[in-house]
Amino acid sequence: SAIYLSDYQEYPYSVNEISLTFDLGEEKTTVHSVCKVSSKTGASVPMALNGEDLELKGLYIDGKPLAEGVDYDLTAKSLLIKSPPAGDFTLGCVTDIEPQNNTSLNGLYKSDGNFCSQCEAEGFRCITYYPDRPDVMTKFTVKIVGDKEKYPVLLSNGNLVAEGDLEGGKHYAVWVDPWKKPSYLFALVAGQYVAVEDKFTTRSGRVVDLRIYTAAHNSSKTQHAMDSLKHSMKWDEDRFGLEYDLDLFNIVAADDFNMGAMENKSLNVFNSRLVLASPETATDFDYNRIEGVIGHEYFHNWTGNRVTCRDWFQLSLKEGLTVFRDQEFSSFMNSAPVKRIDDVMIVRSRQFAEDAGPMAHPVRPASYMKIDNFYTLTVYDKGAEVIRMYHTLLGEEGFRKGMDLYFKRHDGQAVTTDDFYKAMEDANETSLGNFKLWYKQAGTPTLKVSTVYNEAAKTFTLNCSQELPKTPDSDEEKSPQLIPIKVGLVGPDGEDLPLTSVEDGSGSVSEIGQATTFVLRMTEMSQSFTFKDIAVKPVPSVLRNFSAPVKLVIEQSNEDLKFLLANDSDEFNKWEAGQRLVTRLILDLLKSYEKGEDMQMDDSITEAFASVLMDDSLDKEFRAYAMELPSTEELADKIDKADPVNVYRVRSFVLRSLAAGMKDKLLQVYNANNVKGPYKPDREGKSRRAIRNVALSYLGKLGGKDAEVMALLNTSFKEATNMTDQMAALGAICGNPGQDRDNALKSFYDQWSNEPLVILKWLGLQAGSNIEGNLKVMKELLDHPAFDIKNPNKVYSLIGGFTRSAVNYHAADGSGYEFLADIVIKLDKLNPQVAARMVGPFTKYKKYDEGRQTHIRGQLQRILDSKPCENVYEIVFKSL
Ligand code: ARG
Ligand code: ZN
Repeated sequence: SAIYLSDYQEYPYSVNEISLTFDLGEEKTTVHSVCKVSSKTGASVPMALNGEDLELKGLYIDGKPLAEGVDYDLTAKSLLIKSPPAGDFTLGCVTDIEPQNNTSLNGLYKSDGNFCSQCEAEGFRCITYYPDRPDVMTKFTVKIVGDKEKYPVLLSNGNLVAEGDLEGGKHYAVWVDPWKKPSYLFALVAGQYVAVEDKFTTRSGRVVDLRIYTAAHNSSKTQHAMDSLKHSMKWDEDRFGLEYDLDLFNIVAADDFNMGAMENKSLNVFNSRLVLASPETATDFDYNRIEGVIGHEYFHNWTGNRVTCRDWFQLSLKEGLTVFRDQEFSSFMNSAPVKRIDDVMIVRSRQFAEDAGPMAHPVRPASYMKIDNFYTLTVYDKGAEVIRMYHTLLGEEGFRKGMDLYFKRHDGQAVTTDDFYKAMEDANETSLGNFKLWYKQAGTPTLKVSTVYNEAAKTFTLNCSQELPKTPDSDEEKSPQLIPIKVGLVGPDGEDLPLTSVEDGSGSVSEIGQATTFVLRMTEMSQSFTFKDIAVKPVPSVLRNFSAPVKLVIEQSNEDLKFLLANDSDEFNKWEAGQRLVTRLILDLLKSYEKGEDMQMDDSITEAFASVLMDDSLDKEFRAYAMELPSTEELADKIDKADPVNVYRVRSFVLRSLAAGMKDKLLQVYNANNVKGPYKPDREGKSRRAIRNVALSYLGKLGGKDAEVMALLNTSFKEATNMTDQMAALGAICGNPGQDRDNALKSFYDQWSNEPLVILKWLGLQAGSNIEGNLKVMKELLDHPAFDIKNPNKVYSLIGGFTRSAVNYHAADGSGYEFLADIVIKLDKLNPQVAARMVGPFTKYKKYDEGRQTHIRGQLQRILDSKPCENVYEIVFKSL
């Protein structure tokens, strides 16, 4: 059954404080909770508490036991106290739980013998009966009692105020968090950990103890996470004036974790793959991800914890904003244009697909069955694009004013995206009009632009129109959304033309004053903008830096695209020009391929790519990204009823053709950047490895048939001294079936079988293979000691990896789909959240040809018939 935003009601009681005692055990863990409650209404209205999978041992009001059926009603998911006191009272509750048998990794569970918790969004209700909703905020005191030998480290939120030994080999710790918080930010960790310590002094002089807790054998892999944490703390002060608010900050690495990480107040819990790194075991990509996610969770301390969400429909209030903040942090630490390209690739290849599928929902959804299913690319990444648009519209200064007002008004509160919007408007004394619809309307707008140069009048006009697609979440007619369109006009010499003024179609003129880019505010369904004093016919560069998450349709010739690829001063659009060129090529070739004709590579595109590859005036990492082709997913999205295997084949043809056409240059780039020396995860090192390895990957496409190349790949693999280079070589080798591939995979496994995080890469690489018939290997890997269906990371690598294999997952006989459904049905009984994530790939079935649609629909029906949990049910039901 669904929950609706429109049904929101304030909770009638406030919880002034909660005191929790955990008695940790092997058979059961007992939780005592005592809440100081007061009625907000001054009347006795029923008090609803959430609770799931709990054994209730006792319930008390002011110390007096309550009787079931008389004083309260109990159902599988709730407890209703019929007539609590109308004033203040204490509510006591005792429950038994079994963390050791909790395979859902939601609530309190065990990972590698240690206790660990995950309460967002609704895990706290699996610990005790409580109003488990984010608008109920209170101060937590937590006492943890446990065996001293098994659980030497006892952690919760806030400050450690007492600890000591108890009888029977037990000990205890008491933690007090002075900041009010909702239950989803509660955390408890107990077990065998070692801490790596450091300090950070805030700008006002507070000395904060920083600790990262890991299993003893992993403590040498925390340096990068610690550096990232300190950089995050400094950056949030410098950029947003936001300082840390306690004397300690703890991070714990957990091997079994459903998501990436969790921002529990002062006790962040991380999936270990997002904390642990060493040059030998982690790639540059991992280093970047760790930096970004450490930042993300740290930034939540203000955007999420100090100001939290009123209800879960507002999830993007904290997630969209915090993703924007982590993106900005990563751009500051690395190359800003490359980071932007990276983020846009995710939005376009995955968020757009979500927006076009059966689960489409607005950034602020209006209803859901399971909130777990709404930790989506839409809420996170489109949400971040929405925040970025405020920034684009208001400028850095205006955005900062809005942020300052937001904290001034709402610190300590649980609020809504409307409150954020209002703070942005009020701080800038402006109206953002229909911008708000970005929160309310699902679906990706299409922005169509055509242009006219008027030689005589020296004007350049953009005729723009927006189309908002119908989406299954709503029958309402959609209204135009404010789209910020960042534009530059590139003159024939490759330089941006100065812009003097623009008229917006309604007759209103904006003076620009010689700037070379301008942000047009499109507010209507269709609207024209005319730039004045444009002396020569320019090539327009539209939607610079991807200024809005829309599908841009603009007619531009291949010549214009090559011109922009060579000249655009906006690095995003420079990259984009290459993407559009090659997309057009692939889609054209696909038509020939499907007609059974020969495919003919366009050599002028190889030349255009080669000149970017060799352009030493450009950043190496940017050049590496410019060599990347749009993903099969993104390409398939552009075709009605695509055959994903055909798309993959044509894309591979283009990759091979580019590789063949650029072979000498690729070798040159590889050799020039193949420098020995210690690994450093700095910008220079990362850029060098990026271009070296993109060259290697292209060369790998020539593999099999080219003995010289194969020898190079093998040497590269053997001589690698860091994981970035080792994985790049292994990946390139693995594209070519044969003895070399088998040897490399075996030697890699032998080298790393004791490093679970490295083995994830080994699983993922094999799972994603496009070698025909790889399903057989998949079935073997399921039984391999390296795989464990109870560990989410292994499922994401092996099963998630498989769904990225066009050839095998999308095998025309439906065998890949059947395999995935088998796994989902199995996972469903163990871990609903992970099972639901693994159904995700099925939701895109309407994009594919009839045959595949039929196969997938059959598998969805099979899952439905297996009577899945609510998480899986919601997705399957909405898909069918
Ligand atoms: N708030 C966490 C983050 O984005 C994610 C928690 C996800 N939990 C869940 N059950 N889906 O930083
Ligand atoms: Zn987050």
